[in-house]
Amino acid sequence: MAKGNAKPGEQKPARERALPAAKDLCLPREFPGAIHYGKEEEEAALRVIRSQSPFRYYGPRCGFEVKQFEAEFARFIASDPGKPWPEDSEHLVTAVNSGTGALEVALDALGVGCGDEVITQGFMWVSTISAIVRNRAVPVLVDSDGTMNMDPESLKDKMSDRTKVVIPVPMLGGCARIGRIMAVIREVNEDRAERDLQPVRVLEDNAQSLGAHATGCRGSVTAGKEGTYRIGTFGDAAIFSLQINKNITAGEGGVIVTRDRELHKRVEALHNAGFSKDLVAPAKNWYGDEPVGWGQGRRMTEMQAAIARVQLRKLDTIIARMRASHDRLEARVRQLGLTPRMRADAVNPGDTGYYCIFHLPWHDLSDDDKIRRGREIAAELGEYALHPWFMHDFEIHVYYNVPQLVGKWPMNNGCPWACCKNAFHALHKYSRGTLPRLDEMLLTSVGVNVPSQLTEVQEERIAAVLEAVHARHVKLA
Ligand SMILES: Cc1ncc(COP(=O)(O)O)c(C=O)c1O
Repeated sequence: MAKGNAKPGEQKPARERALPAAKDLCLPREFPGAIHYGKEEEEAALRVIRSQSPFRYYGPRCGFEVKQFEAEFARFIASDPGKPWPEDSEHLVTAVNSGTGALEVALDALGVGCGDEVITQGFMWVSTISAIVRNRAVPVLVDSDGTMNMDPESLKDKMSDRTKVVIPVPMLGGCARIGRIMAVIREVNEDRAERDLQPVRVLEDNAQSLGAHATGCRGSVTAGKEGTYRIGTFGDAAIFSLQINKNITAGEGGVIVTRDRELHKRVEALHNAGFSKDLVAPAKNWYGDEPVGWGQGRRMTEMQAAIARVQLRKLDTIIARMRASHDRLEARVRQLGLTPRMRADAVNPGDTGYYCIFHLPWHDLSDDDKIRRGREIAAELGEYALHPWFMHDFEIHVYYNVPQLVGKWPMNNGCPWACCKNAFHALHKYSRGTLPRLDEMLLTSVGVNVPSQLTEVQEERIAAVLEAVHARHVKLA
């Protein structure tokens, strides 16, 4: 970045004088959960080591940390944001060893296989797609609305009688219009019921947005009471990730949530050895007594759970801090005349504030120019450790940047593409141009990370950098 080439004694232009030196920005690292690690996490890890019992089901002095984490997560997900957790919860939770594992187990438990379409969005993470492909189904992509998440109206157009599951993915802490998505699915399911077809199920991939809340009616078949709820409670099931970039972390880890007892039983079995444990009566065998299918061995360790339990108690505080900083930065972005990413709910936004995305008014430029300028801005912001992304380059979060998807790479023996039940895959393509609204947003959007420990001074410095970069690249363009 040109930080001013003025010779000694020469005055720099005003907008360059306002810029802090990159080293002075001193931004905390971006990992929200990990940077809050402290004595309590240390004590939790030691507790497991001292017990010599790192396995969830037994050991010399098993502390059943995973079981306790599952019970606490169930209460958390039922709680109102910022309020104490209720004593009871209708949610049933299975902790697993990663978000990717959670997706694969959940789709398996939902009965996804050859001949099925699973609908998701083009802005996601590669695991959302790989879980579909590994379950031998065909991914179908829908376009995005201003939230950059799944557009409910585009979803309506893409659903067919082959659709088995819909996976909305609230990206980077920003909620989708999940209330509207659920309403669209209920409408489709009403029609299906009349034709004796199985209902479409909804699996929320909330890996990036744990703790966010949204407004609407829950349920894919029957509408529940309209209200504001934590995301992860709208669909038939939801997954979360505890990988290091996430709002809380155990290094790795995942969670599957559902209110459906039958589905929960399948998840429990498939994440383990393929057998289901009776939830009330003690099982004779540690892995359960009743075979359900082929297990995936996705169990969470006691160490992961002990740390995750501590982190879960910190989550609302972490989110409150990211949200407050995000709101102030977003206000500064607006003052520059830029449009920030649309919120699903402008009145009662439940986004976590993890990331601040703004759109550049460059619709008249050629794609090549948009790409060149987007990269220049991201490169400049990067010098200030703002962890920026030019969204078009956001690696394998973007459908057309996933070579295995664009090229329809097969798994062993050609599945899912070569499977005779999946011949309809020829109707679907995944190269750039498939989702025009999303494509355009990606070409005209840049985002910066919003750490959860920003001081006001740091926020001011970030705002100054945004202002200077805006002056150089947007105002003068
Ligand atoms: C949207 C989304 N889904 C799934 C995953 C997979 O989670 P994990 O990294 O825990 O396997 C991620 C992780 O980044 C993600 O962002």
